Amino acid sequence: MDLKLKGKTALVTGGSEGIGKGIALWLAREGVDVAICARRAGPLEATASEIAKQTGRKIVAIPADLTKDADAKRFVEEGHKALGRVDIMVNNAGSAPGGIIEHLTEADWERGLQLKFMGYVRCLRYVLPIMVKQGGGRVVNLIGNDGVKPSYWEIVPGAANAAGQNLTLSLAGQYGKHGISFVAVNPGPVRTERWAGLVDAMARDMKIPREQADKLAPASIPMGRIAEVDEVAALVVMLASPMMAMVNGTMIEIDGGQDKPLMDRFRDRPGG
Ligand SMILES: NC(=O)c1ccc[n+]([C@@H]2O[C@H](COP(=O)([O-])OP(=O)(O)OC[C@H]3O[C@@H](n4cnc5c(N)ncnc54)[C@H](OP(=O)(O)O)[C@@H]3O)[C@@H](O)[C@H]2O)c1
Repeated sequence: MDLKLKGKTALVTGGSEGIGKGIALWLAREGVDVAICARRAGPLEATASEIAKQTGRKIVAIPADLTKDADAKRFVEEGHKALGRVDIMVNNAGSAPGGIIEHLTEADWERGLQLKFMGYVRCLRYVLPIMVKQGGGRVVNLIGNDGVKPSYWEIVPGAANAAGQNLTLSLAGQYGKHGISFVAVNPGPVRTERWAGLVDAMARDMKIPREQADKLAPASIPMGRIAEVDEVAALVVMLASPMMAMVNGTMIEIDGGQDKPLMDRFRDRPGG
């Protein structure tokens, strides 16, 4: 199927590593020019030139810290200027500390919401007027299944995700008349550096060996494994397509059918 993405342009936040890098690469393979941001300029520039070399597309690296409103504004403005227009906005940069309420400080809650929720709000605040002016656009918010499948050991990501999901659905109601459509993608566990950090937190909070913590998520997923970056990137790129514009104001889980309470059961009875 032709996704009709050739010649389109996209902004991808958190595009230097992990899922964001995968999304930028897969978009570029479909013929999209992409601007990516992250805080560290070194890995960001390395990723941009790696993707440009592989795909022949224009990949623009713009260092920015999305916990800062001025950086979000600059990313959107410089990305727009470099690409000429913004057909697709992928909000992806985010992380929120895992852990149980007893271990989470005021600063942990603040940090989780500042990036994972407010980072998305900031970029949208600056990109939506551009999309309105150009007569349309597509927003894909990479969120997380914690927002719809809560678990007590991931309550900060859960709260930030639920807020982002609500934002996605709310804005769809407002901007459809401008030809701008919104969808949220909710991954479960995906094999990235960030996931390794969450496993560490689970081992600490559940007081179990790390090796056992690493088996908890696969035990809760009927597919018996966590997702790969390429699988999530492929879904995001498909949803970014203009062919998917009517998939609006909704969200889709990509978590292999994860049943989170099974993680708890497996912790208590690892033998089954
Ligand atoms: N991995 C999972 O299992 C999983 C599951 C569900 C949902 N998700 C969601 O998927 C998204 C991507 O996750 P990931 O695992 O790919 O993360 P990752 O591997 O940690 O990559 C995060 C990216 O965001 C950038 N970043 C971090 N803080 C930033 C900031 N303040 N401003 C701008 N960029 C920033 C990082 O670069 P710098 O460090 O240089 O800034 C990096 O490029 C996140 O929103 C996450 O919540 C992930």
